[in-house]
Amino acid sequence: MIHSLLQEFNLTDKEFELISKLVYSECGIKLSKEKNELVKSRLTKRLKKYGFRTFEEYYEYVTAIDKTGNELVCLIDCISTNKTEFFREKAHFDFLDKEFLPDLIEEKIRGGFYKLRGWSAGCSTGEEPFSIAITVCKHLDIFSRWDVKILATDISTRVIEKAKQGIYEKEKLETLPQGIVKTHFICTKEVDTAYYSVKEYLRKMVLFGRLNLMDKQFPFTGQFDFIFCRNVMIYFDKATQRELVYKFHKYLAPGGYLFIGHSESLTGIPNSFEYIQPTVYRKNNVLDS
Ligand SMILES: C[S@@+](CC[C@H](N)C(=O)[O-])C[C@H]1O[C@@H](n2cnc3c(N)ncnc32)[C@H](O)[C@@H]1O
Repeated sequence: MIHSLLQEFNLTDKEFELISKLVYSECGIKLSKEKNELVKSRLTKRLKKYGFRTFEEYYEYVTAIDKTGNELVCLIDCISTNKTEFFREKAHFDFLDKEFLPDLIEEKIRGGFYKLRGWSAGCSTGEEPFSIAITVCKHLDIFSRWDVKILATDISTRVIEKAKQGIYEKEKLETLPQGIVKTHFICTKEVDTAYYSVKEYLRKMVLFGRLNLMDKQFPFTGQFDFIFCRNVMIYFDKATQRELVYKFHKYLAPGGYLFIGHSESLTGIPNSFEYIQPTVYRKNNVLDS
């Protein structure tokens, strides 16, 4: 035990290649050679947990011995980068608030169709879908006849579990206006630390689940009014991005919007979206679907 605590693990080029190929084929994340140290530091705790002496032994366990697939899920959990925050890239929420939602809601009321569907694809610990839900609440009385659901998915089971709790440390809310905190969160103190829980009605609006965006088919029957997939595709290569953008188009309702991250773009990816503004795209009409 003491030996394994003190042990320094070495990740050889061959081992790195095996692991990066596995990660790529499982979840589309491209690990460049510069990520060697990151992979090593994040996976070392798994080697220690099982008492493996090398990364190759661990790789063998993940790919050939563990038939449950559970350790592969843990490996992906360790590798994925989950940075997020409430109202990250505020321009998107301003767009939802001032342009998209007013038009969409008016159109739905005109058609007598009181249903709204959004998807946060790669939702991490939940700040993104809850920011969407808070924005929607500005426009709709959620206790009324409206049926609103925000699907929030991620490949990492660890972040999905945290997101489902809907409990955040005080620091996570520091950038939020006090009005939003007071309206949508409940403060609880645990000894000296303050935690904030999202209120029940927001929690009910957001449905969390694990989903790999690399899956050939998604288990949805209907289409979404909008999809947020921000700061996820940046980790994928062009071929994977192309397939994903195609699937997003398919799962959006005509007139629906796709929001991507500030450092991402559909330039160079063949697609049928109309460009609206940087990182905001629209699915045009029924003929495209
Ligand atoms: C950097 S976070 C972005 C979170 C949020 N969208 C935002 O912009 O604040 C990227 C998330 O994508 C998830 N992810 C990476 N590959 C994925 C895949 N193949 N399927 C689903 N989620 C994936 C990661 O687990 C991570 O939580």
